[in-house]
Amino acid sequence: MFGFIGVGNMGGAVAAAVCKGAEADKVFLCNRTAEKAEKLAAHLGCAVTDNQTAAKTCRYLFLGVKPQNMKELLEGLRPILQEKKPVLVSMAAGLTAKQIEEMAGGDIPVMRIMPNTPVAIGCGVIMYCKNGLLTAEDEQALVSALSPAGIVDPLEERLMDAGSALCGCSPAFTDLYMEAMADGAVACGIPRAKALKYAAAAVAGAARLALESGEHPGALKDAVCSPGGCTIQGVRTLENRAFRGAVMEAVMVAAGASGDLGKK
Ligand SMILES: NC(=O)c1ccc[n+]([C@@H]2O[C@H](COP(=O)([O-])OP(=O)(O)OC[C@H]3O[C@@H](n4cnc5c(N)ncnc54)[C@H](OP(=O)(O)O)[C@@H]3O)[C@@H](O)[C@H]2O)c1
Repeated sequence: MFGFIGVGNMGGAVAAAVCKGAEADKVFLCNRTAEKAEKLAAHLGCAVTDNQTAAKTCRYLFLGVKPQNMKELLEGLRPILQEKKPVLVSMAAGLTAKQIEEMAGGDIPVMRIMPNTPVAIGCGVIMYCKNGLLTAEDEQALVSALSPAGIVDPLEERLMDAGSALCGCSPAFTDLYMEAMADGAVACGIPRAKALKYAAAAVAGAARLALESGEHPGALKDAVCSPGGCTIQGVRTLENRAFRGAVMEAVMVAAGASGDLGKK
């Protein structure tokens, strides 16, 4: 059984992915504002319950609350967690598996996952790490349950903040890029709706080509830069404006900020 405590943006998206793979009658949603869980459960065909019941009955307990709410939540559930020892699956940015284990009273299996919003449509990335108490069997069961979300991949815990910046924050960076590309196209006369659709399709297509071909992005870029052509002029403009440096900086700053979340 899979319980979800906190089904906001991210918890709800992960719950939707798990419902695609698991039978929906094995999935239970809980949320502080109960109507949110009720609405999502009706949409996904699963059930709602309260935090205590989920902690008592579910083998896998997904924690979708904000990092700053985690301590209070887990301390309140401590007696049940210590009796039942469910596997805690935390998606909180910046909180280590050890911190989650300690908040729950210690000696409890934890998987820490870092999903991104495209998990809602099966095109996401979920990086995960674990504490020493998670069995290989539980790890396999969780990887399998999460697989409808997209790529599910282990990552060393020390790299989770960087992974979070790369996959969790980059949809927003890419949204900015798409908006800017569409603005440029609108300035060249393409109607807004078409410009936005074409920009998104171009980004999705380039990403898919990179994933499916396995080619280095630099090689894919070279392949579309004809000598004396227009693409290389656009590349020159981006290089002059330090596009790549700005993107690198954004990832590094976001990784640092992600690490700080757990200290708040
Ligand atoms: N958003 C992302 O892109 C992203 C990416 C990776 C990881 N994360 C992580 O995902 C977690 C959730 O983020 P979010 O963006 O989904 O936030 P969110 O939309 O605010 O969702 C948090 C949910 O937790 C509920 N909640 C709070 N305290 C609760 C309690 N004691 N019992 C039950 N439910 C409770 C809230 O209920 P109410 O409806 O009452 O507010 C809300 O629905 C965070 O830890 C974040 O670090 C987010």
